[in-house]
Amino acid sequence: MKIFLDTANLDELRKGADWGIVDGVTTNPSLIAKEGIAIDEQIKRICDIVDGDISAEVVSTDHAGMVEEAYKLAKIHKNIVVKVPLTRDGIKTTAKLSKEGIRFNVTLCFSAGQALLAAKAGAYIVSPFVGRLDDIALEGMNLIREIAVIYKNYNFPTQILAASLRSPLHVAQAAVAGAHIGTLPFKVLDMLFNHPLTDRGLEQFLNDYAKVFQEQASSRR
Ligand code: G3P
Repeated sequence: MKIFLDTANLDELRKGADWGIVDGVTTNPSLIAKEGIAIDEQIKRICDIVDGDISAEVVSTDHAGMVEEAYKLAKIHKNIVVKVPLTRDGIKTTAKLSKEGIRFNVTLCFSAGQALLAAKAGAYIVSPFVGRLDDIALEGMNLIREIAVIYKNYNFPTQILAASLRSPLHVAQAAVAGAHIGTLPFKVLDMLFNHPLTDRGLEQFLNDYAKVFQEQASSRR
């Protein structure tokens, strides 16, 4: 599973990129607004940090506005994936401009039927939101499983990007369910490293080593 960072914060992106395991970035209007910098400028900076697919979302809700924004966003960098909501206008925009070679991430997907529409429209990526379904007491991970089966049944090339992942458990479950990509807030990526047995094991290895080799060094003195 590819790992994307779900942030527009440059410090978080630099730290993640430095670990060498970040394959791409997703942003949305809320994340861009949090940084307070115009989307085209911030997306350019993100493209300089991470060499991978970078999702940049339109804010128009009508087809004509989405088309205009999609052309502008796609021109910023070769790695841009234009993000549109899973609405009638979003699907129409995806179907039209995918044929021209613009890559789309269809976002705010909450049902397997919606995911089918995104694939039919030729989306490059579909983004089902796991955590937000959990929030309303529905099993978000079931959605990833259902989409994986549908896309496999019909050989749809659309990639499933598990979004709204809130914990290391979500990340592992999304990978088991067959998501092609998981997008993670920086905090969740950071937590993914942690295991108490790793810490305890490392401490023991270093103590055992130091006992023998420090004793040898001091007996030679
Ligand atoms: O980028 C969209 C998605 O990942 C948002 O997650 O936690 O706000 O539901 P969340």
